[in-house]
Amino acid sequence: MDRTPDTVAAVNWDELEREAVAAYESAASGDELEEVHVRYLGRKAALPQALRGVRDRESGMTLNAVRRRLEEAEEAARARLDGGTVAGDYDVTLPGDAPPRGHLHLITQIRREVEDVFLGLGYEVVDGREVETTHYNFDALNFPDWHPARSTGDSFFLDDTRVLRTETSPSQIRTMEERGGPPIYMITTGRVYRRENVDATHTQTFHQVEGLAVDEGITLADLKGTLLAFMRAIFGPERRVRFRTHYFPFTEPSIEPDVSCFLCDGVGCAVCKHSGWLEMGGSGMVDPALFEFVDPEKYDPEKVSGFAFGLGLERIALLRHGLPDIRLLWGNDLRVLGQFR
Ligand code: DAH
Repeated sequence: MDRTPDTVAAVNWDELEREAVAAYESAASGDELEEVHVRYLGRKAALPQALRGVRDRESGMTLNAVRRRLEEAEEAARARLDGGTVAGDYDVTLPGDAPPRGHLHLITQIRREVEDVFLGLGYEVVDGREVETTHYNFDALNFPDWHPARSTGDSFFLDDTRVLRTETSPSQIRTMEERGGPPIYMITTGRVYRRENVDATHTQTFHQVEGLAVDEGITLADLKGTLLAFMRAIFGPERRVRFRTHYFPFTEPSIEPDVSCFLCDGVGCAVCKHSGWLEMGGSGMVDPALFEFVDPEKYDPEKVSGFAFGLGLERIALLRHGLPDIRLLWGNDLRVLGQFR
């Protein structure tokens, strides 16, 4: 630019202003804006140079006014480019609509938590199947012929030999068959089906966790210690367990574990129905009849022993989170489920 800044009069400031404003208005990128700035307001540009040399008040006022208008034009251009208003239609800088984020169902969370606890104890997690044969669901588990679970009144049969599993226990037999010998430390989790009348504590589909340990020298003390460790992991480190004798076809002896109430610690409250204890499911020492049934050579009942247990996941959820009705877990009401993220 060969404008001489020696005298103010040597520059036509009106023309320069028009030119500069037009340049600001047509700047299409940050880089172009920067160029325009250097050209008109940069340290060596005519206007700032002239301002520096101004001696009289009149010229000072004129040039300052031009500078202010150029600065305004520059600000407008910067806002236009930074603001990103595209074609004037919408403002891409406005916050968008956050897509709603889902989360795991409470039962899935508990299933994973339970699996983590047992993985930590050295167990493996195996898959079972929901459609079972009467062979695995009843016969191999030592169910007597007269057992009510074998009836169509209690269980969902597909035909004479196939049934929706009524418990996760058939996985015990399948795992022992597959492994072909001890040691076995496994759990399996999943859905089971029963012809229940649906109410606040019963649904026809629910979830269990089944555990099986088979090795040499396994005793009832191992079962107790394992369930104690599990209950403490799920319900808190202060928990105690106690056992009541019971009957299951596939364990001998059979015992039912209770955990001390996590809310009142055994004093008695609404959660434990004032007993101080919560019933948690079934367990026992593997009945040697199962070893005989699977393979008495590979699982010699004289040498090998084991324990097993089965617990309901819904029951854990209801107790631990104070849910008053099991059907809440199946209703898919996000106002309920959303509380368990
Ligand atoms: N299968 C039993 C039920 O659903 C629970 C159970 C009891 C599982 C004792 C076991 C066990 O493995 O040893 O009621």
